[in-house]
Amino acid sequence: RELKVPKPEGSGEEAELYTEYKGVYLPTNIHPQESLKYYEEFTFRHDDILIVTYPKSGTTWMQEIVPLVQNGGDLTPVLTIPNWDRVPWLEEHRACVLNLEQRASPRQFATHFHYNMMPVSFFTVKPKVIYVIRNPKDVFTSSYHYYGMASYLVKPGTQDQFLQKFINGKVMFGSWFDHVKGWLNAKDQDRTMYISYEEMIFDLKDSVSKISQFMGKSLDSEVIEKIADQCVFKNMKQNKMSNYSLVPNEFMDQNKSEFLRKGIAGDWKNHFTVAQAEYFDAVYKDKIKDIKYKFVWD
Ligand code: A3P
Repeated sequence: RELKVPKPEGSGEEAELYTEYKGVYLPTNIHPQESLKYYEEFTFRHDDILIVTYPKSGTTWMQEIVPLVQNGGDLTPVLTIPNWDRVPWLEEHRACVLNLEQRASPRQFATHFHYNMMPVSFFTVKPKVIYVIRNPKDVFTSSYHYYGMASYLVKPGTQDQFLQKFINGKVMFGSWFDHVKGWLNAKDQDRTMYISYEEMIFDLKDSVSKISQFMGKSLDSEVIEKIADQCVFKNMKQNKMSNYSLVPNEFMDQNKSEFLRKGIAGDWKNHFTVAQAEYFDAVYKDKIKDIKYKFVWD
């Protein structure tokens, strides 16, 4: 079956760097048509664990925690396998060459797809989902830095310009609001764990413990402590299998901004003007009004 993925309308960098798939922009380099087709036809297993995030919400962090929990605190996988192969994104170009069908259960994957973009098998097989959510103003701030350093993304422009794009979903993986709304209103939530970046910052040990319970792994408190210690920002930043230092500079220029940049909650306060924050809050209030979920930052 042919999969037709159109280019975004108009000219300019968006059309050059992105394709539009199911209504959202995806960087073409990383998500070529074969990869999207592979994902559409992917067969989940019931015991797969899928980390779902809007970009810049704590994906890499969870790609460190989940394998450590699964392996009872053994550091080998996180110290020897890059995060993108350890917990691969199903929509990325590497997924179809990693022989994921051969991996032992429980497999661990990541995705940035919206709920309504998920392939058929997801809805019939119902794998476990860990959905990580982060204050959108911090997601914006982290994204702004990231778009400035990653050559496969359209340059962000001024902060005001990027704010418009972010709010209108004219960025990779579309709108934060739609992403969150889709996953928070998802059916079959008994196999989904919702956790916020802010909770993980506030109490990482407790978060690791909740994640391990959800994954059905009962771990001793020393093991939980060991995992949390490996995953605190300053330690994870040293792990070259997780800090993106293996990626060439032409692709991600970490001299401009590091991938593991600040790792805090509330950095938006150092970046938003009062006017930008007021504008964002007004848009936010309107866009989330039909979500029945208490966000920790509200
Ligand atoms: P900042 O840019 O605000 O520092 P993702 O992995 O989804 O792309 O998200 C990246 C964000 O998560 C970055 O945010 C990064 O620093 C942060 N992050 C990654 N590992 C972390 C950790 N161990 N502790 C806290 N934040 C972490």
